[in-house]
Amino acid sequence: MRFGRAGPTARTENMGYRTAILGATGAVGTEFLKILQQRDFPLASLKLLASQRSAGKKLPFRGQELPVEEVTEGSFKGVELVLASAGGSISRKFAPVAVSAGCVVVDNTSAFRMEPEVPLVIPEINPQDIARHKGIIANPNCSTIIMNVPVWPLHKVNPVRRIVVSTYQAASGAGARAMAELQEGARAMLEGKPFTPTVLPHVAAFNVFSHNSEIGEDGYNLEETKMVRETRKIFHDPDILITATCVRVPVLRAHSEAINLQFTRPITEEEVREILSAAPGVRIVDDRRRNYFPMPLDATDQDEVLVGRIRRDISQPDGRGVDMFVSGDQIRKGAALNAVQIAEKLNEL
Ligand code: A2P
Repeated sequence: MRFGRAGPTARTENMGYRTAILGATGAVGTEFLKILQQRDFPLASLKLLASQRSAGKKLPFRGQELPVEEVTEGSFKGVELVLASAGGSISRKFAPVAVSAGCVVVDNTSAFRMEPEVPLVIPEINPQDIARHKGIIANPNCSTIIMNVPVWPLHKVNPVRRIVVSTYQAASGAGARAMAELQEGARAMLEGKPFTPTVLPHVAAFNVFSHNSEIGEDGYNLEETKMVRETRKIFHDPDILITATCVRVPVLRAHSEAINLQFTRPITEEEVREILSAAPGVRIVDDRRRNYFPMPLDATDQDEVLVGRIRRDISQPDGRGVDMFVSGDQIRKGAALNAVQIAEKLNEL
């Protein structure tokens, strides 16, 4: 299937990438399709890859029905760009195959994020790292992206010494089946029927539980550890102090986070607002009079991370502390949009 680039920006000498989406039927995969259409991404062709279960399915794209194929080692011949979101083990197996076939892989899984030669990129923060890729570029963890889009512009002006973050994470982070399970569980509970979850470890509806990732010897779960390690890599700052508590809440697809910051020097609320109002990827939603602040329903389907509750931390009397509350669409900026933005930057190199 071939697509020219629509509109006045069409350039026949650059028809765009021959692209494949690995995991095209999943929560992030279907968002890739949406974003590629919305952004008029330069595509020469598009191939949809998933498991054998989905082979033969069709997904709509730019007025056509594209077939889903089962991914095999031969799937990447003639492909230039792979947007991968089919889970860590699938990326570990197929990303090297795709790279050998000449593709650049923008990988949404955690498989390669901490490998030193793999750039880990949030385009608003470290786009320069893209240039040193050796075939794989990693997309950071969703909670890490949503926290750092607003923290970075502040850090650039007045370096952040310590971050204390608590997350309120949506079901979408565990995939399309977890989102369906939240809806089914809510329905069952409202009807007074018994419900046994099979995707998430606990009932998600009307409940809150600690993030369903592996717990390390230090007591931190893997999601928390990712936020710490990945932020240091993206910021190129191995010394920044971070502690995180990651929790699932009964929300479908946008993550929220309470973020407490300690800066190097005193900083005022006004300075924070001024910096964030000019920051890319950020929208301030901070109306104290109406008690209207970032909410996951408002963040859903939005490109920007919503930031509010901006206030001086009264427990840091030296004026170096700030609290804020953010919401960002986990599937969009937390995953698919960030990966597409990486591919767009790659196209500019
Ligand atoms: P499929 O729908 O065929 O199972 P999510 O994160 O929403 O759970 O989506 C996971 C994505 O990864 C889906 O597109 C899913 O395809 C794909 N996937 C899961 N297991 C495999 C596999 N063994 N091989 C290829 N794709 C897979």
